[in-house]
Amino acid sequence: MTEKSVPVSEFVARARAVLAANDRGGYTVPTHGLYPFQWNWDSAFVAMGFATFDIDRALRELERLTEGQWDDGMIPHIVFHAPSDTYFPGPDVWGTRHRIPTSGITQPPVLAIALAEIARRAGHHEQTRIAALYRAALRNHRWWAQARDPDGTGLVALLHNWESGRDNSPEWDAPFARVPETTTTEIRRRDTGHVDAAMRPRDSDYRRYIHLVDAYRNVGWNPEKMWAIAPFKVADIGVNSILLAAEESLLGLARTCGEPGDAPEIEARMMRMRAGLQRVWSVERRQFQSRDLNSGELLAVTTSAGFLPLLTDAPTPEQAQQMMRALVQIARGGAMLVPSTAPTESGFESKRYWRGPVWAVVNWLIAQGLERHGDASGADAILDGTQAAIERAGLAEYFDPLSGEGLGGQGFSWTAAIYLLMVERQRARREAA
Ligand code: DGY
Repeated sequence: MTEKSVPVSEFVARARAVLAANDRGGYTVPTHGLYPFQWNWDSAFVAMGFATFDIDRALRELERLTEGQWDDGMIPHIVFHAPSDTYFPGPDVWGTRHRIPTSGITQPPVLAIALAEIARRAGHHEQTRIAALYRAALRNHRWWAQARDPDGTGLVALLHNWESGRDNSPEWDAPFARVPETTTTEIRRRDTGHVDAAMRPRDSDYRRYIHLVDAYRNVGWNPEKMWAIAPFKVADIGVNSILLAAEESLLGLARTCGEPGDAPEIEARMMRMRAGLQRVWSVERRQFQSRDLNSGELLAVTTSAGFLPLLTDAPTPEQAQQMMRALVQIARGGAMLVPSTAPTESGFESKRYWRGPVWAVVNWLIAQGLERHGDASGADAILDGTQAAIERAGLAEYFDPLSGEGLGGQGFSWTAAIYLLMVERQRARREAA
């Protein structure tokens, strides 16, 4: 349905109403039913959305997320604040031992990026709360380096595809081919009761996802043991780029919130990560790619995550140019930017979750990256396209890059949050013109 006649202010009101409807008491569920708990990276984007109109609520979102932080610094991908039987796998399957039930794996570390954004808007207010969250993020980045890059290579590894946030990306097909489908857990999928199965991962994928959960639960979620037995171990280009950008955000915060030793410690990790990213540049494909650390292979698939190194200063000017040209080519091919998997890839499926659909949060990050590398008009084009899709198809979980149709869950918190950020940015642009 086209809603072209609806004014932007009405959509802003709808976006805020979605955040209010998904508020469960200081934390926001991604959407009603399908995702009834607090998700790690969803919350970071939601916090940035709140920050456009309510700094206190924005900080509260992050505080509730860090209630789930483990003593070793890991921030779980799900915090099960209150029971719900509409989601699988729930706390019983994870079998972790934190004070509040949580999953045992993590998700893209957007926390420090969100915190820096909130701090920028808060000015001198809320310094104590911001400093406490800064320390949580610092402990989290130390965890990433120790637990997920124990050999100090400069690239962190994911041990479960859910940690990428891009669950069924075709990048993971090759590494998953080696993961057995056997599981000791009874699989009771709930997701396909909420949305069309054709838009979700397949059953065989789910058996492998749960095989990994079984394996790590059996070693008590101990990071060294998980590392040693991991049947799935990938250096995801998305997470590595986000982590380097988050380290840069943390470095900025260290000036006001940190101890004297923090900045050199963060800078040392950043230097290693920049070098790590350069090792996953594919000369043939002219793009950054994920690497399967069990086989050593680069995962040669063009995905939206491959553009996320633009968020950082790791790409050379030449590499940045090549990435921008690749985006133009995808758009010329007729797709709405930025499809999670390029339509030219054999694994592309326009409606299936991370195998093709466009996600507003990734577009927001890529736009930030384009701006950083001097392509403001490219950033505008991506965001204008995203905003138009939302105004046409609603605050959907994701969008078909070929038809623009809204897919997955509706009333989605992070899509609402990005909508608020986009409208604000567009307004600033108009005022500056
Ligand atoms: C899901 O259940 O689909 C989530 O993406 C896993 O966190």
